[in-house]
Amino acid sequence: MIKPDLTVNFAGIAMKNPVTVASGTFGYGSEYAAYLDLNRLGAIVVKGISMDPVMGNPLPRTHETRSGMMNAIGLQNPGYAEFVSDYMPFLRTLDVPLIVNVWGRTIEQYEAVVRAFDVLDGVAGLELNVSCPNIKQGGNLFGTNLDLFREVVDAARKQTQLPLIVKLSPNVADITAFAKAAESCGADGLSLINTLPALAIDVETGRPILGNGTGGLSGPAIHPVAVKLVWEAAKSVSIPVMGMGGIDEVNDALEFLIVGASAVAVGTATFRDPRTVLRIIDGIEAYMQRHEYASLSEVIGTVDMNR
Ligand SMILES: Cc1cc2nc3c(=O)[nH]c(=O)nc-3n(C[C@H](O)[C@H](O)[C@H](O)COP(=O)(O)O)c2cc1C
Repeated sequence: MIKPDLTVNFAGIAMKNPVTVASGTFGYGSEYAAYLDLNRLGAIVVKGISMDPVMGNPLPRTHETRSGMMNAIGLQNPGYAEFVSDYMPFLRTLDVPLIVNVWGRTIEQYEAVVRAFDVLDGVAGLELNVSCPNIKQGGNLFGTNLDLFREVVDAARKQTQLPLIVKLSPNVADITAFAKAAESCGADGLSLINTLPALAIDVETGRPILGNGTGGLSGPAIHPVAVKLVWEAAKSVSIPVMGMGGIDEVNDALEFLIVGASAVAVGTATFRDPRTVLRIIDGIEAYMQRHEYASLSEVIGTVDMNR
């Protein structure tokens, strides 16, 4: 049997397969090098970087729920300079495109970090995080207010020649409005979904479990929500879409591809099994073999909504 072709060009980034990792769930790559061959990944997406270092939110920052997890990390990161000195040397040794997730609290901060990465060697593309629910300023506001959203995407676009992927918030009434706005501002691709706002209470104290109060819900609980939003977003634009949200088994990833995503990212499942991403790659290949599909184009966007 012929070996199926798993390669995909996502927003100008040549990937050997459509599977990557979700920002914030795979550190800066080196943390996972002992557990799996990183060169097998379609791309590596690193945890969100801002221009200056950020301490993040008070502990505890994570909480396991019955069907997922909540986190309120607060975008803790070492900042641009330390990322470049401490993590880029290792990342440059890999034969995998590097996508850097970037964010700021103001338009100017977004511009500064995008501009800085634009001239850095070894970066294949940027993912603009406008959708984090866990920081007090910026974050989700940029992702849920259409005017601010346009402003930040437009500002970022002007600062870089690199492929620009805009990460959408699920917390909007009409995802297609944001997908189309990103496309019209010059985004090369979209990724979705980020976490959903959530609250867990310690019933003995009557207080929130997370140090930040509320947090973002991820994992299997959000998967069907993500599939619906990816389906809507993908059919409303002609730029490629990366689907994420609760991928644990290969069928979760296939659902995203079938509703129109050209790539997928594995997030929370990595915490339980760091090799999940490899299972998903192998599973997609086995699925294509079973169906005698030669290329991913025979899978992507083939959904038939008639029942
Ligand atoms: C602990 C944790 C940290 C995260 N940090 C980031 C981040 O820095 N930037 C970002 O865009 N998304 C971040 N996310 C969101 C994930 O990239 C992803 O969109 C979300 O978790 C849904 O995928 P999943 O259900 O497979 O985890 C984070 C998620 C988790 C669980």
